[in-house]
Amino acid sequence: MSYKHLVTRRDGPVEHLTLNRPDVRNAFNAEMIAELASWAADVAASAGAVRAVVIGGAGKVFCAGADAAWLSKSATYSEDENVRDATATSHMFRAIDELPVPVIGRVHGAAIGGGAGLAAVCDIVVAADDAVFGFTEVKLGIIPAVISPFVLSKIGQSAARELFVTGARFPAARAYKIDLVHAVVAAPDLDATIDRYLTEILASGPEAIAAAKALVRDVWRGGDVTTFTAKALASRRVSAEGQEGLRAFLDKRKPRWSP
Ligand code: COA
Repeated sequence: MSYKHLVTRRDGPVEHLTLNRPDVRNAFNAEMIAELASWAADVAASAGAVRAVVIGGAGKVFCAGADAAWLSKSATYSEDENVRDATATSHMFRAIDELPVPVIGRVHGAAIGGGAGLAAVCDIVVAADDAVFGFTEVKLGIIPAVISPFVLSKIGQSAARELFVTGARFPAARAYKIDLVHAVVAAPDLDATIDRYLTEILASGPEAIAAAKALVRDVWRGGDVTTFTAKALASRRVSAEGQEGLRAFLDKRKPRWSP
C-alpha cells in the first residue's frame, strides 16, 4: 500500500515505517493519523509475515508531534467533530500500542508532544544521544491528553507530573532515566543497535512474543491476574510453538519457528 505521508519498506520479516513530512518535522495531521491507523491495521493483519516493526522519521527529527496548523483549525469544528478528530488520534496510538509484533522506535533529532507519545507506544526505543524530548503541550496552551495513558504507563506519575506541567524539553539521557527510552547511542550507531534488538526478536517464538506483549498490557490493566496468567502459561506451554521451543532447548538445537 502506498501513502502520502508515510514510507514503508519490508526487509524480510521486518517492516520499516518512516514518517515522511520532513518540512514540518513529521508533525501529524488528520490525514497522516488516518494513514498511520490504516498502516497499523495492515501490519496487525500481516503478523506472522511481519515479525517486527521499526518506526523512524525522515529528515532532521523523529517527530514534532501534532501539526500546530491542523490543531489550530479545530476552532472551526463543531464539538462533535472536535471529539471525533481527537478520538481518531487516540485510536491511532492504541492501534500501534497493541500491535502483536514488537515495535522499535528509532528516535533522532527530536520527539516532541505526540512524537514523544509515539515513542511511548513503542516496545523498545533507541535514541540518539543528542535527541531532545518534551511534553511541551502546555507551552501551546493545550495538554498531552490522548498520549497520557501510554506515557504514564511508561514513565509513571512523578516524571509525568513534572514534565507535563513544565512542558520542559529534556535530553535523551533523562528520557532513558525515566524509562521512555531503552538505549541511548551516538546517532551513527542507531541502526546497529536496532539490529541487535532485531536479532534477539527474530530468534524468539513469534506467537510467544505476541503473547508476552499482551501479557504486559493485561497485567497492567489488573483484574484476576492469578487466573489469567496461569491460563496464559498453560496455553503457551502446550502450543506447537512452546513445544518446539522446549524440545529444541532439550535437543540442544535451534528452534524452528513457523511459518
Ligand atoms: N506543527 C506544525 N509545524 C511544525 C511543527 C508542528 N508541531 N514543528 C515544526 N514545524 C514546522 C515549523 O513551523 C517550521 O516551518 P517553516 O519552515 O514554515 O518555518 C518547520 O517545521 C521547521 O521547524 P524548525 O523549528 O525550524 O525546525 P528545527 O529542526 O530547528 O526544530 C523541532 C525541530 C521539532 C525541535 C521544532 O520544530 C519544534 O520544537 N517544534 C514544535 C514541536 C511542538 O511544540 N510540538 C507539540 C505539538 S502538540
